[in-house]
Amino acid sequence: DRTELVKAREAVGIGEKVSSGKATLALVPTMGALHEGHRSLVRLAREKADHVAVSIFVNPLQFGPTEDFSRYPRTFDADLEICAAEGVSLVFAPAAETMYLPDRQVGVSAGGMGAIVEGAFRPGHLDGVLTVVLKLFNLVQPDVAVFGQKDAQQLAMIRRMAVDLDLPISIVGAPTIREADGLALSSRNRYLSPNDRRAALALSRALFAGAEQRTPGEIRRVAHAVLEGEPSLNLDYLVLVNPATFAEVGENHAGEAILAVAAKVGSTRLIDNVIVTL
Ligand code: PAJ
Repeated sequence: DRTELVKAREAVGIGEKVSSGKATLALVPTMGALHEGHRSLVRLAREKADHVAVSIFVNPLQFGPTEDFSRYPRTFDADLEICAAEGVSLVFAPAAETMYLPDRQVGVSAGGMGAIVEGAFRPGHLDGVLTVVLKLFNLVQPDVAVFGQKDAQQLAMIRRMAVDLDLPISIVGAPTIREADGLALSSRNRYLSPNDRRAALALSRALFAGAEQRTPGEIRRVAHAVLEGEPSLNLDYLVLVNPATFAEVGENHAGEAILAVAAKVGSTRLIDNVIVTL
């Protein structure tokens, strides 16, 4: 609970040092089932601050009624070992009842940007993410928070929340960690059967092939063609969007864009993206 969190902060000398301006704290929010992607975030966090805190909380608010909340992987003991091995100072793993009162009323709205692309397929998801992330920020009070580019719209929305709500926290983005064959690491990859695992490769193949093209039209066409070659993929979206707003870019767009994809392979929903420069 909160008292224990304050005690834990004091035990590792965070509260005291932060207030005297001597030490800084970086937070890596996670839902656990930690893998190399999460570990890379912790390593980047260690470069950005004196202490790293990891939160582990499977946030019920960001799962839709038909989504995988109850079967989301929970590997708490292994997660603690990984945190210890990575030199994490503090692990915050609250119970759901601690985070949400049964009669809670107030949350963060992700606005129009939370209703497009990923938000169009997962209504309320980004509201739930922003609400829990703001609560974690308030509880842990980090100077820096690190998020993966893997969840590109989540990262863009958290940056947006920091601006729109004047959060005194710097938001750091970290590159996507992939398997040798290109598949982006995800806690949900463990659900994939060997056949699903092979079909899932079409996501990164489509993104890499698209990223080699020169114009928005060609990028979209080539990436689509790769996805269409994999019949066991059930495509939710393939978009080429502005990294800050997630609005589709026009044919004359110059600068960075994000080519993002979401698809179901069997019953597992996967997302991935790459940054392209036009
Ligand atoms: P989770 O899916 O556990 O991811 C935690 C963090 O790890 C996120 O910032 C995510 O982008 C990052 N991550 C996941 N896979 C990655 C990969 N292959 N390479 C690099 N980083 C990767 O995202 C969430 O949890 C939740 O929405 C959360 C922000 C914790 C709020 O509940």
